[in-house]
Amino acid sequence: MAIPRASLLAILGCLCFFSSVLAARELNDDLSMVAMHESWMAQYGRVYKDAAEKSQRFEIFKANARFIDSFNAAGHKFWLSTNQFADLSNDEFRATKTNKGFIANNKLKVPTTFRYENMSLDALPTMVDWRTKGAVTPVKDQGQCGCCWAFSAVAATEGIVKISTGTLISLSEQELVDCDVHGEDQGCEGGLMDDAFKFIIKNGGLTKESSYPYSAADGKCKSGSSSAATIKSYEDVPTNDEGALMKAVASQPVSVAVDGGDMTFQFYSGGVMTGSCGTDLDHGIAAIGYGTTSDGTKYWLMKNSWGTTWGENGFLRMEKDISDKKGMCGLAMEPSYPTA
Ligand SMILES: *[C@@H]1O[C@H](CO)[C@@H](O)[C@H](O)[C@H]1NC(C)=O
Repeated sequence: MAIPRASLLAILGCLCFFSSVLAARELNDDLSMVAMHESWMAQYGRVYKDAAEKSQRFEIFKANARFIDSFNAAGHKFWLSTNQFADLSNDEFRATKTNKGFIANNKLKVPTTFRYENMSLDALPTMVDWRTKGAVTPVKDQGQCGCCWAFSAVAATEGIVKISTGTLISLSEQELVDCDVHGEDQGCEGGLMDDAFKFIIKNGGLTKESSYPYSAADGKCKSGSSSAATIKSYEDVPTNDEGALMKAVASQPVSVAVDGGDMTFQFYSGGVMTGSCGTDLDHGIAAIGYGTTSDGTKYWLMKNSWGTTWGENGFLRMEKDISDKKGMCGLAMEPSYPTA
C-alpha cells in the first residue's frame, strides 16, 4: 500500500526534527565536555603531543566522565570524580597503577606468629586513626611506577618505627626499588610487602626519604646509604579474618593487599567504598585505622600512594566486616606488619 506523499513527508519531518534535537543535545554535551576536558587538563597540567592524541584522550575522558556522573547520580555510600586518572581507560589504569604492582603470593604461606592473637576484640577502641598519633607520614605519589608494594611496606615501617621509638621518619621507597632486587621484588615491575620487610631486615634498615629521594623509575642501587630506621621481623595477619586485622590495626599500621583495578577504585573520591569489588590482589596500601560513620557503616581507613588528588586527600575508606571473609577488594587476604 502506498503511503500518501504528504504524510510520508510529515513522518520524515518528524524523524528529522527529533534527530536534530538529539544531535543538538549531543553537541551541547560534547561542548561542555570539551570545556570540562580543557579545564581538567589545566588542573592536572596534562599536555598531549598532538591533536590526534588529544582527541583520543578526549573520547576516553568523556566515557569516564559519563560513567562517573551516572555512578554518582545512582547514590552510593561513596562517590567518584574525574581525578588525575580521568583520561586513562580502565585497562591502561590497571597496567600502570596496579596489575604488576603487587605480585600475589601464590606460594603456600608459612604461618607466622600472630602476636596480637590474644587481644580481646571487645577491648579494642571503637575508632583508630594513626594519623592523630603522628604515626603516618604525608601521602606520597608512586607516579608511573608499579612499586605500590614499596610504599605499602614503607608506610607500615614508618608506623612501627614511630610507635617504638617516638620518632616519625619518612623512609625511602626508592632504596627498595633500586636495591631490593635479588629476591622476589622487581622495582617498578612489582613486588611483595613481605619481601620488602625481609630486605629491610637484611639491609639493616632503610635510609631517609630525603637522602634517597623517589624518582618513580628503576635505578641503580646507591650503596652506602646510612640506615635511618630498622625493623626486627615481620608477621602475617591470619588470612581472611577481619577480626584479626582489627587487632593488628589497633596496634600499628598494617600493609594490606587489595584488588585496586576496578573503575570505582580508579575514580574513588570520598565516602566509604562498598558494594562489589574484585579480589585479584594487585595493589598494596596501608591500613592506618578504622571506625564507624554516623550512619553506622564500619570502615577501614587506608593510606594510598597515588598523591593527594585521589580519594580523601590521598586516603580511602573501605567497608569493614563484610560477609565475604576475604574482605572488601580482598583486603583481609594477605595483610602483614613489621615488628620492632
Ligand atoms: C595466646 O594464648 C595461648 C593460651 O594461653 C598461648 O598458648 C599463646 O602463646 C598466646 N599467644 C601469644 C601470641 O601470646
